[in-house]
Amino acid sequence: MIKRVQSWLGREDRQQPVDISPDNIPRHVAIIMDGNGRWAKRLGLPRIVGHQNGMKAVKRVTIAADELGIEFLTMYAFSTENWKRPKEEVDFLMRLPVEFLAIELDELIEKNVQVRVMGDSEALPSYTRKAMEEAVQRTENNTGLILNFALNYGGRKEIEDCMRELAIEVAEGKLNPDDINSQLIDSRLLSGGLPDPDLMIRTSGEMRLSNFMLWQLAYSELWFTDVYWPEFGREHLLQAVAEYQRRSRRYGGLK
Ligand code: IPE
Ligand code: IPE
Ligand code: MG
Repeated sequence: MIKRVQSWLGREDRQQPVDISPDNIPRHVAIIMDGNGRWAKRLGLPRIVGHQNGMKAVKRVTIAADELGIEFLTMYAFSTENWKRPKEEVDFLMRLPVEFLAIELDELIEKNVQVRVMGDSEALPSYTRKAMEEAVQRTENNTGLILNFALNYGGRKEIEDCMRELAIEVAEGKLNPDDINSQLIDSRLLSGGLPDPDLMIRTSGEMRLSNFMLWQLAYSELWFTDVYWPEFGREHLLQAVAEYQRRSRRYGGLK
């Protein structure tokens, strides 16, 4: 059990301990991995180098989350709006999951991680889709951390698709409109089966949702950091969880 986690909060703040209680670890953490391009730019490097290094952060954070006892980790990897970027960048981003899984899948399997993916997979290039499908299949019986990639994911599209599906069932007489409730909608969204995120982290200083899990984040605790995603690591995750543990979650009620 983790009693007291020693962590190093960056150069100026070395050796400041972070207290984390093992009893109040967020079950589901969702991350908007942002700032790859600006990280690279700051170093005078092309944006794709930022994405390449962002991939290493995915590995670090997955391992740290697993060690901490987080059960579900959702990573926003590509939004339905990211197609607006230059073709070369989109192509590079579409190859990253292939590369990531080629390097990391064996270790993820060893760590009993179950890989999932949510988003519109039809629109992905076939090599990206195949790599993801293989990872999902090869890990489907694993019982450890659930690592859920949001890939070509958009919160509004997810809700639109769900509404269309329910409307069709109502029109066909298979569903009574009175039976439409939060629970049913939860189960029909792409995240169906996962609890809502307890903690949502966004890196790079932006304070917006950018179409991420609009329904599921209704009562999540939000944590923002100026750190760019490629430099995000275990110590930042611990910092976020420590802050999460100081929050009072009231869900509209009183403590
Ligand atoms: C996040 O980094 C990765 C994706 C959105 C795919 P960005 O590429 O958005 O980096 P910035 O925000 O331009 O710095
Ligand atoms: C959000 O980041 C999407 C992902 C991290 C995958 P963006 O960089 O696309 O968001 P905006 O454009 O700054 O809102
Ligand atoms: Mg960005």
